This record gives sequence, C-alpha cells and structure tokens, in this order.
Amino acid sequence: MRTVLFVDDEPSILNSIERMYLERDDIRCLFVSSGQEALDILDREEVWVVVSDYLMPNMRGIEFLSRVKARRPHTIRIMMTAYADLSIAIDAINKSEAFRFVTKPWNNKELMEVVDEALMRYHLIESLGTEDETVYLSLAQTVELKDPYTKGHCDRVAKYAVALAKDVGLDGEQLEVIKHGSWLHDCGKIGVPERVLNFPGRLNEDDMESVMQHPRWGAEVARQAKMSEGVINIILYHHEQYSGTGYPSGLKGDNIPIEARIVAIADVFDALYTDRPYRKAYSFERVLDILKEMTPTHFDPELVKRFIPLAKKEGENNE
Ligand SMILES: [Fe+2]
Repeated sequence: MRTVLFVDDEPSILNSIERMYLERDDIRCLFVSSGQEALDILDREEVWVVVSDYLMPNMRGIEFLSRVKARRPHTIRIMMTAYADLSIAIDAINKSEAFRFVTKPWNNKELMEVVDEALMRYHLIESLGTEDETVYLSLAQTVELKDPYTKGHCDRVAKYAVALAKDVGLDGEQLEVIKHGSWLHDCGKIGVPERVLNFPGRLNEDDMESVMQHPRWGAEVARQAKMSEGVINIILYHHEQYSGTGYPSGLKGDNIPIEARIVAIADVFDALYTDRPYRKAYSFERVLDILKEMTPTHFDPELVKRFIPLAKKEGENNE
C-alpha cells in the first residue's frame, strides 16, 4: 500500500493534512508528532514517502531526514518549512537529505502534487531495482498508458535499436542494455502530467520545460535504483543531438554514448512512422527522407547509413 508518513509536532497541522487526505483512499496516511516515533514506524513497515516538519523539539527535521536516509534509503523525503527557514531547506536539498520542500502555510493542491510525484518516484525506484525484465516492460507500458499514441512504442524502439546494435557488432550484455534502455528510455515521463503529454498543440514554456526534464528525472531514478551505466546513458542522453544541439547536456558527436546514439535513431524513426496527437503517421518513404534530412544535426551519420537498410527490411515486412 502506498504509505505516506507525516511528522509534525503541531497537532493542528497534522489535523488539517489528515482532513485534506480524507478522500484519497488510494493512499495510506500515518501521522506522528516526533522524529523518534516516525523512526519506530520505519523500522516496522514499508513507508514510501515521509513528509517532515523542519523545526521540531528534540530531533530536528534535518537530523530526522538524514536518519531516514541511512535507515531506508529508498523512502522519499520531503521537508515542510516556514518561509523564513527557506535557505536552510535549500541547504537540506543540496545535501540531498530532502527530495523537495514545501513551504508553510502550504497550498493543498501543491502539497498533494509533490507527494504524488514522490510516490511515483518511489514506485519507479523499487521497480527498476528488481532486475526483473517483466517489471521493466510493465513499467514501460505504464508510461505508454499516459499517452495512448505511444502504445507499443517502447517495444518497437527496442526491436529497431537491437537490430542496429547487432549490425554494428554489439553483443551479449550490450544488447540487453540496448533492449532495457529502449524500453525504459522515457520512464522519466511518469513525472510529466498527462495533460502535457497529450496536448495537441504547441506547449507553453513551462510545460515544455517539464517535458524536457524527463531524461534527467528518469536517469536520476535509474541511478538510485543502481541500474547499469549503459541503461542510464540511454535514459539520460536519448534526446542529445549529434551536432550538440540536444538536451539535457548538449553533448556532441561521439561524446554521446553509442547506446544513446542508437536508441535516438530508433526512437525518432518509430515516432515518425506512427500517428501522433498532432499529426498522422508519415509514409515509409517519407520517414526515410525525414531521417536523412535530420541526420547532419540529429544523428550519427554512420549509424543512420547502417540503419536505413535495416529499416527497409522492416518496411517490407509491414507491407
Ligand atoms: Fe524521450
């Protein structure tokens, strides 16, 4: 059960949070008034998210959260603090004792959103940490469900990317990395709201920013789940472009790890070849033309040269 533990020495605060969560029967909320009581609960049961006050007698919020970190590293930690304590809260985040902070007095919607994001993050870390392929695939399908147009996308990207990887001589474990990375490349989209993912027109700047965070968000979680470097590279760098104009790091040419260069081609190929919310799928010939036009800026030209005959084979199979 998705369990959230709230820690605050002021009963009125806990009461109003409890009222706020009355209608959420998908979440189990626990309330305690001290860090020690909270640690006792953490010893006994699985808690997905803790939300702690900063200023408490006996054990302070930061000390409490760092103890949570040591005891239950996967539990996501959120700090609540009065506005005046902001610089301390930021310090806590920088030391990564806390995933987010919420200022008091809080906005109910905002607090719920932060907690929901933390719950998703916990679920993702736990799933990625299983080292179980079926869990990876079902996770990829959960992401696809958020955007019905991408149904089957991850699996097709894996198929194209593995074919290209074999063609350039990767084998064994490297092919597993390509497959898992292809499935999970957009796992960070779990953190992007559905209304943004399914928006049919041009996104405003804020929404665009939240979409562009998905590689970093996903990679951070994958790192925490101790996934292999290759899979993390694919998640983090699948939107980099060969000319250095991509995101999130603006890596250029061969500085982009080869596994990410491979998946980037497969990802765009499949996106062009299927319907999107804002346009119909392109014909196979048109897809290849677009891919060629994009190559100087977007893709490793050697890889595209190798990919086209493989894609043609795929196109023939589909006719
Ligand atoms: Fe992506």
